Amino acid sequence: MQYRILRNGSSLAGRLPDTRLLKKNALSNMLLQYRSVVLKPRDGSYGRDIVFIHRNGANTYRVQNEKNTVTMRDTNQLLKELSKINKGYGYIVQRRLQLAQVGHKPFDIRIMVQRKKGSSSTWNVTGSYAKVAAQGYLVTNVTSRPIPVLEALKLARIGDRSLLVKAEQIALLAAKRLGERYPTLRQVGFDIGIDRNRRIWIIEGNYQPDLRPFRLLKDSSMHRRILWYKQSIYRRTLNGDRPH
Ligand SMILES: Nc1ncnc2c1ncn2[C@@H]1O[C@H](COP(=O)(O)OP(=O)(O)O)[C@@H](O)[C@H]1O
Ligand SMILES: [Mg+2]
Repeated sequence: MQYRILRNGSSLAGRLPDTRLLKKNALSNMLLQYRSVVLKPRDGSYGRDIVFIHRNGANTYRVQNEKNTVTMRDTNQLLKELSKINKGYGYIVQRRLQLAQVGHKPFDIRIMVQRKKGSSSTWNVTGSYAKVAAQGYLVTNVTSRPIPVLEALKLARIGDRSLLVKAEQIALLAAKRLGERYPTLRQVGFDIGIDRNRRIWIIEGNYQPDLRPFRLLKDSSMHRRILWYKQSIYRRTLNGDRPH
């Protein structure tokens, strides 16, 4: 749904990795086209049920979930098992991004955008941090500590502030699109990927983002700003300025 809103008629289409509903044909076509794909439950999972598939040379497939890797001769059995895990919602298959790395571990960034209540209010970036994958993992959800984005970009030797500014602009544009569709939406926590060619990708937008990582950052100013934004909604609501 979110994917469709961002994709349709917007300049963001090129920021979204190619994504289809998981069906047998879609999977084999995507594996032919991209070699590496990611299977994700449609309803989100904290990275738990995410499966990475890579097509090896000789028609075998390397399949990784969490820290476990197996080699398969064909993907039918896997498709059967996945359909059991997530019956109602199904899975999507997405092109795998070659995410930039810090010390051989992929990372992505979380960009928090918020707006206050009121039709004329504009979206603002209120915080960001980088998530570096734990050793052996391909997802960044299993991570020890958030680090400032500029630090991650520096450690990865991939860019500087201008790359972060660009990522923030993309997150703002995406929030604007989603906000047009969902007028009561006040916050989105975007997972943004930067690949090894420094291209910026939107992985997903979370409407109820976890704020704990912001509390773990040494610099508490983002966390305070985020809470202030949330509160300014709350206070007005208490004053009876409620949406109808
Ligand atoms: N297309 C992709 N290519 C590479 N890594 C990905 C891709 N999609 C997701 N990931 C990794 O998996 C993590 C979890 O995926 P995400 O779509 O955010 O699902 P969740 O709802 O579980 O957070 C991402 O933060 C990223 O590290
Ligand atoms: Mg996520």
